[in-house]
Amino acid sequence: MNRRDFLKYAFMGAGVIYSGAWITACGGGGSSGVQKNPLYIPSDSGLLGYFYPQNRFDMTAQPSYFEILPGKQTRMLTYTVSANGKTYYNPIIVLRSGQNFDVNFQNNIGEKSIIHWHGFRADWESDGHPSYAVGSGNSYNYPTINIIDRSGTYFYHPHPHGKTGYQVYHGLASMIIIEDTDEDNLKTTLDLQYGITDIPLIIQDKTFDANGNLVYNPLGMNGIMGFWGEQVLVNLTPNPYMNVERRIYRFRLLNGSNARPYRLVLLRGSQRMRFWVIGVEGGLLEAPVQVSEILIAPGERIDILIDFRDVNVGDVLRLYSLQHNLVGMGGMSGLINREFEVLEFRVTQDSNYNGNIPQTLSTINPISTTQQQTFTLDMNNGVFTINGQVWNDSDPLADYGYNFNNGDKVEIIFVNNTPMYHPMHLHGFQFQIISRTNSPQVIDNLAIDTNGRMATDLGWKDTVIVGPGETVKIAVDMTHNFGREQVYLLHCHILEHHDAGMMVNYRVSALSAL
Ligand code: C2O
Ligand code: CU
Ligand code: CU
Repeated sequence: MNRRDFLKYAFMGAGVIYSGAWITACGGGGSSGVQKNPLYIPSDSGLLGYFYPQNRFDMTAQPSYFEILPGKQTRMLTYTVSANGKTYYNPIIVLRSGQNFDVNFQNNIGEKSIIHWHGFRADWESDGHPSYAVGSGNSYNYPTINIIDRSGTYFYHPHPHGKTGYQVYHGLASMIIIEDTDEDNLKTTLDLQYGITDIPLIIQDKTFDANGNLVYNPLGMNGIMGFWGEQVLVNLTPNPYMNVERRIYRFRLLNGSNARPYRLVLLRGSQRMRFWVIGVEGGLLEAPVQVSEILIAPGERIDILIDFRDVNVGDVLRLYSLQHNLVGMGGMSGLINREFEVLEFRVTQDSNYNGNIPQTLSTINPISTTQQQTFTLDMNNGVFTINGQVWNDSDPLADYGYNFNNGDKVEIIFVNNTPMYHPMHLHGFQFQIISRTNSPQVIDNLAIDTNGRMATDLGWKDTVIVGPGETVKIAVDMTHNFGREQVYLLHCHILEHHDAGMMVNYRVSALSAL
């Protein structure tokens, strides 16, 4: 049996069950006749409102109701903040590099939870490790986090073991934007403003019942494929469109889905249009990269620019997700291998805008590694494993044998022996992607250099797509200033894989070995 056959066999043998459901927003040839809704764009309060914390504040996870489908109330879970006389739900938190970030988390959702600040470098007692989860009715006051990360689009969501998929799916997820001087320059050059020309696009797939309530039924035995929703929402808007002017816009894409990756193109009719990748999880790239297609997996953030001066007033562009082969499951393509529209742009107005895409955005120093650590991803009896191990929930601080010294520069090698992609994520440190080998076609097609990397593999990352059968090398500089041993997580960001135990602890000593 060769490797490809093995991959196919592995999945069929697992007896995966899936519902025959599919994406309802699919727009096949263009005019699908679906009712389109204006994209929800946040302002300075309410859902996703931009919130600029200066002092310690309270954030309460609690049930709340939103009208997502017209005329129906959906029970969700949201992070609620009352501050400055305003109420925010899942605020987009805007921070300045160097400032302190102080949060009191209050859990009122009826089960254990804790917030993880995905992408931040923070002492592990503020990182949302599952050992810090608190029961409903309880609170956790995060020790002060000094923001040392670069400008970029970050992510926050719950991290209690075994319940992350359920809680994120029910709504607990939003963005953090960090600003610094690189960001100030970009903002000035391109005349960008939050909620007007700098727009969050939080992409999630959800399934609703006839009453508008969320249905959560991960696919397959033990949720092998994770949860794939029937309807794709952007900022919780079904079938969204956005009116734009002929000028440059910046979009901050966050894949907040539990399991679904998106293979995104920008179409005018069937013509592919260009756009630019300017940033990923750890902030701005050194320079913009022009592309015509990107992959974005759960947990990843990709900042893009679109120049609507490439088209005319009256034109319609569609952000569209194509079929892909990131999940090798033979004939079971009903829900997975579909193409569908994500967002429609209607170019409604000309403008006298004269901004140009800058040549440089930031400076990134490459990491030179001095040691290696391999993590092999396998599937055993319907459970995904990392070096043969699964998370031990009865001992959340278990030692999995990954002990590093402060200051170690480690080449991590992910080897995927499964028929499914895994977006691998590290807490504690951002990393750089070195190379990809044995990549599936959909990744190989996007390679922009001889190391097999995609445009979205450049810069500082915290989550990396590892395709079925693929080997991916990354470089991590494990230097920290937290004054004690750190316990961080390494896990798959398909939330059902993570909940089923595709996660390990790794430790980094307090002091440098040197
Ligand atoms: Cu966004 Cu440990 O995850
Ligand atoms: Cu994280
Ligand atoms: Cu996975």
